[in-house]
Amino acid sequence: MSLLEIDTLAVQYHTLHGAVQAVRGVTLSIERGRAVGLVGESGCGKTTLARALIGVLPRNAAITGGRVRFDGADLLQLSGDALNNYRWRRIAMVPQAAMDSLDPVYRVGDQLVETMRLRGGLTSPQARERAERLFALIGLEPGRLRLYPHELSGGMKQRVVIAMALALDPQLVIADEPVTALDVIVQHQVLRTLRELQETLQLSLLLITHDISVVADLCDDVAVMYAGRIVEAGSVREVFAAPHHPYTMGLRNAFPSLRARSARLVPIEGYPPDLASPPAGCAFAPRCPFAIERCWHDDPALLPTTGGRLAACHRAAEADALRTQAPQAFARLETTGPQSVRPGAPPAGGTL
Ligand SMILES: Nc1ncnc2c1ncn2[C@@H]1O[C@H](COP(=O)(O)OP(=O)(O)OP(=O)(O)O)[C@@H](O)[C@H]1O
Ligand code: SF4
Ligand SMILES: [Mg+2]
Repeated sequence: MSLLEIDTLAVQYHTLHGAVQAVRGVTLSIERGRAVGLVGESGCGKTTLARALIGVLPRNAAITGGRVRFDGADLLQLSGDALNNYRWRRIAMVPQAAMDSLDPVYRVGDQLVETMRLRGGLTSPQARERAERLFALIGLEPGRLRLYPHELSGGMKQRVVIAMALALDPQLVIADEPVTALDVIVQHQVLRTLRELQETLQLSLLLITHDISVVADLCDDVAVMYAGRIVEAGSVREVFAAPHHPYTMGLRNAFPSLRARSARLVPIEGYPPDLASPPAGCAFAPRCPFAIERCWHDDPALLPTTGGRLAACHRAAEADALRTQAPQAFARLETTGPQSVRPGAPPAGGTL
C-alpha cells in the first residue's frame, strides 16, 4: 500500500464571480521513502492540492469530492485531535514563501522549540536538545539557534523552516516551492540538503516546483499537473526520457537543462484555461499541436500507459511517434499561436 493515496480529489474556491475549480479530480500516489516532484505552470492548483492534503485550505475553499488515504487512514474524515495527530506529526509542510513567516521578534531556536512543545508535546529540555540535532542535520551550527530571523541569510532561514517541518519526525514532507526566493546557487544547496535528509531519514517527499530541471535532478517520481489535474505520472527517468503526454513533451522542449545544448528551446504557446470555466474537453487542446476533433469535447481520463506510467491523453498510444514530431509541432504553434476550437480539423503531424 502506498503511504499517500489521493483519489479524484476536487477542491473549489468560492469567489464573488463564481466557483474556481482549482483541483479537478486529482489522482496521485506517493510511495514510502520516495521523492515525488509535482510540476506545473502557475495557477494549475499545486498549492491548493498541498493545502487540501494537510487540511489548511483558506475559508473560501471547499473539498467537493474524492478521497485521501494516508497510511490507511481516510484523512478527509478526520477532524480535531485526530486530524492534528496527522498534521505536522506525520505529514508536515514547508509552505510557499515560508521563510517570510518566521516571527521577526523571536529567536529562531525559540520558534523551533515552541513548535515542538505545542504540536509535539515535548518538554523544553527535550525540545532544545532536538532543536540542536535538527540544526546539525540541516547544516547550521547550534549557536545560530540564538539568532533572530533578520540575522540569518535567506538560505539559512529556509533551512530553519525545513527544520521546523522535520521537528516532529514526519513520514511525509510537502515542500511547496521551498527555494524560489533564493539565488540559484543557494537554491541548489538547500535542495540538495532536502534530498539528503529525505534519503537519510527515509521520508516521503512531495516537492512542488515550476522547474522541471529541479525535479529531474532531485526526485524519484514526477507528477505533471495541468489545469487542476495530473496529466502524466511515473518515474522521473522514464517520464523525462520519453514523455507520453504532449504537455510534458512541450515542457521538456522548453527547459534548457533537459535539452541537448545544441537544441533550440521551444516555448508552449498560449495560457492555461480559466479554472472558473474549465473547458469540456482536454484542457490542453488549444495549446496542443496534436489535438484532434475528439479532444475538444471529450476530457481524457488519467489511464495506465506502459511501464507503470499514467497519462491523460487520447493519443497516448501514439506517444512515440508524437514525441519525435513535438519540437517542430510546438515550434509551428509559435508562429500560428494557440488554436481555437476546430471540430473536424485534421490531426497535426499524425494519424488517428
Ligand atoms: N484564496 C483563493 N480564492 C480564490 N481563488 C484562488 C485562491 N487561491 C488560489 N486561487 C485560484 O486557484 C487556482 C489554483 O491556485 P494555486 O495557488 O493552487 O496554484 P499554484 O499551482 O500553486 O500556482 P503557483 O505556481 O503560482 O504557486 C488559481 O486559478 C488561483 O487563482
Ligand atoms: S487529449 Fe488531445 S489535446 Fe489533449 S493532450 Fe492529448 S492530443 Fe493533445
Ligand atoms: Mg503555489
